[in-house]
Amino acid sequence: MAVTLDQHLSAGGIEPGLARLLAVVADACADISALVRRGAAGEILGALESENVQGEVQKKLDVISNDLLIEACAKAPALAGMASEEMDTIHPVRPVSAEARYLLLFDPLDGSSNIDVNVSIGTIFSVLPVAADAPREATEADFLQPGRNQAAAGYVVYGPQTTLVFTTGQGVSAFTLDPKTDQWLQVTDAVAIPRETKEFAINASNMRHWAPPVRGYIEDCLAGETGPRGKNFNMRWVASMVADVHRIVMRGGVFLYPWDAREPNRAGKLRLMYEANPMAFVIEQAGGASFDGFGPTLDAKPTGLHQRVSVMLGSAAEVERLQALHEKALAPA
Ligand code: AHG
Ligand code: MN
Ligand code: MN
Repeated sequence: MAVTLDQHLSAGGIEPGLARLLAVVADACADISALVRRGAAGEILGALESENVQGEVQKKLDVISNDLLIEACAKAPALAGMASEEMDTIHPVRPVSAEARYLLLFDPLDGSSNIDVNVSIGTIFSVLPVAADAPREATEADFLQPGRNQAAAGYVVYGPQTTLVFTTGQGVSAFTLDPKTDQWLQVTDAVAIPRETKEFAINASNMRHWAPPVRGYIEDCLAGETGPRGKNFNMRWVASMVADVHRIVMRGGVFLYPWDAREPNRAGKLRLMYEANPMAFVIEQAGGASFDGFGPTLDAKPTGLHQRVSVMLGSAAEVERLQALHEKALAPA
C-alpha cells in the first residue's frame, strides 16, 4: 500500500504547523484539479476583463484558483499571511502569534496561456518563516526574504495526472492524486535529478534577443555531436514553467527563461518570489542547481513581491556550464 500524504506529513520530521499548512495547500490544489478537469463544463475557461498588478490579462481560472487557495489556507492556524501573483499586495491572515509562524506565497495558476488549449498547467507555492520580531501583523517587507530561508516549497501539475512535488529541506517527495479516492499517494520520497542531460527547454523564438552567454550555450547544444558538446540535444517547451520543471525533476534537463533585450530593464519574465525561488528550492533539494545570471537563485536578495528574475535551473552540470559562460562574459578582456 502506498503511503498517503497525510501519513507522510504526520510521520514526524516536519513541524506540525507546517505539516498542517502543506495539507491545506494540497487540499486546495485537489479542488483546483477537479475544476480543471471539468473544463468547459465547469465554466472555468476564458479571460476576464481585469488585469493583475503586472498588467497581464487575468484568466477566469487564475482568479478562481487564487480565491480557492486564499479561502482554504486562511484556515491553517500556522499561517500569518499570504501573497500571490494575482494580488497587488499581501493578504494578512491573522496577527502573528506563537502559532502563526509562516508566510505563504503562490502562483495560483501557472501556464495560463495553456488553460484553454488543454495543456498541462499547475500551482507553485513557497513557505517562508515570519519575521524574528513577531508577534505582530505581517508586512510586505517580511515576505522579502531570500529563497534560502524557505521552510517548504513545491508545486502541483494538472496534467494527464495530478502530481504534487514538495520539499521541506530534507529531499523531495512526489505524490499522485488518485481520482478514485481523492487521496494523495506517494510516488517517491527521493527525487534525484541526474547531473548530466541532453535536453534543454527555452523559448527559442526569443533567440535574437538573448545575451551572448545564453546564445553561446544554446548554439553549442544545437551543434550536436560534431560541435563542442560532442552530443545531440533534444528541445522541449511546454510554456508552463511548472510542467517544464516537472519534466526536469523527473528525468533531468535544463530550463531557461533568461534576461533578454526585448525589455532590457526587466531582469527576466518569471517572478522570483513565487516562481523561481520555490522551483530553485525543489531543484537544489533534488540535487540540481539554479542560477539567476549572478549567483544561486536562492541567495538573491528580494526587493519586491512581484520582482522578476532571470531563471536557469536543472541538471547541475548544465547550470554550472551556464554559470561559467556568464563569468567568462563578465571577466575583463
Ligand atoms: P503565468 O501563467 O503564471 O503568468 O506564468 C507563465 C510563464 C511560465 O509558466 C512559462 O514558462 C512562461 O510564462 C512562458 O512564456 P512564453 O509564452 O514567453 O514562452
Ligand atoms: Mn507562472
Ligand atoms: Mn500564474
